Amino acid sequence: MLVTGCAGFIGSHVAAALLRRGTRVVGIDNFDPFYARSIKERNLDRVRGALAGDDRRFELIEGDLCDASVVRRALEGNAIASVIHLAAKAGVRPSVEDPPAYANANVLATSLLLHHAATAGVKRCVVASSSSVYGNCATVPFHEELDVGEPISPYAATKRACELLGYTHWHLTRMPTAMLRFFTVFGPGQRPDLAINLFMRKAVKREPITLYGSLDSSRDYTFIDDIVVGVLSALDRVDRFGYRVWNLGGAAPVTLRELVESIGAVTGTPLNVSQGPSRPGDVERTFASLKRARAELDFAPSVPLLKGLAAQWEWMKTQAS
Ligand SMILES: NC(=O)c1ccc[n+]([C@@H]2O[C@H](COP(=O)([O-])OP(=O)(O)OC[C@H]3O[C@@H](n4cnc5c(N)ncnc54)[C@H](O)[C@@H]3O)[C@@H](O)[C@H]2O)c1
Repeated sequence: MLVTGCAGFIGSHVAAALLRRGTRVVGIDNFDPFYARSIKERNLDRVRGALAGDDRRFELIEGDLCDASVVRRALEGNAIASVIHLAAKAGVRPSVEDPPAYANANVLATSLLLHHAATAGVKRCVVASSSSVYGNCATVPFHEELDVGEPISPYAATKRACELLGYTHWHLTRMPTAMLRFFTVFGPGQRPDLAINLFMRKAVKREPITLYGSLDSSRDYTFIDDIVVGVLSALDRVDRFGYRVWNLGGAAPVTLRELVESIGAVTGTPLNVSQGPSRPGDVERTFASLKRARAELDFAPSVPLLKGLAAQWEWMKTQAS
């Protein structure tokens, strides 16, 4: 099994879960400087912690998926049957500053990976997409059949491009490919640029927080353990579907106002917030329809926001110490 983005937030949790169920994992990551390498090294401790002493079941390749020779070596040298592709430059706002870097890391890397995976005889791919592909869709909840032709950030556009590449590869090679639209993922290990992690760190230091956009904007948050279950379910079932897009969300959107209050309640420190303008690329709301994922993946998110925030807060306290 090849897991790309293995040193990242979601990749490290997915790799650990695979190791716990006995799978041999080859991870690949280029330690993109989007956030500190030291955080990614700690993510890898999570992966190695799942090895139960058998180090031979995990190998990390430090390399860039935009380099075809790295991709080929990873696939062919390890007789890979399945690929879980989670590597990407993530984050909506930075993508507005540097669209070409996102096109490179996300679209080129995915194109190379799908091409060489099919050539190397890989049997299936599961690929991370994003709720951001829905843009400011007027229909809620967002379901997989909606027209997603109007992404409003370069990041979202690259994720949609990856979905299209996935379909094309499926059409040409019949390599079953799942595209998973994750809705804001949180929990222990969450990326440091994401709101909950950022707000909790500010709460510890009692620093002021600027909220960008309306307090009534809303997000559908998904706890990391639920995402891992969804990823593994897609891996186990995608062969029956060929090419398939699935939403993986919490299906319980909360407003920015509610999020701030909930974090204040969990940390015991009401947040010191001020209001800033909305930022280009940010969508007004996200809200996953889980009808398809429930029916086809048995996906049923089980961790509500407050419980997940408490788990993330416990983890953040261990990081601070
Ligand atoms: N976290 C979320 O809320 C969320 C929501 C929607 C979609 N996603 C998607 O899920 C995936 C994982 O997100 P995450 O939050 O774990 O992000 P992350 O940044 O923690 O992990 C991504 C990893 O990919 C690696 N990477 C980036 N470019 C690479 C390249 N060219 N070659 C090799 N490695 C590379 C990075 O170093 C990083 O460790 C991404 O595809 C992201 O777009 C995440």
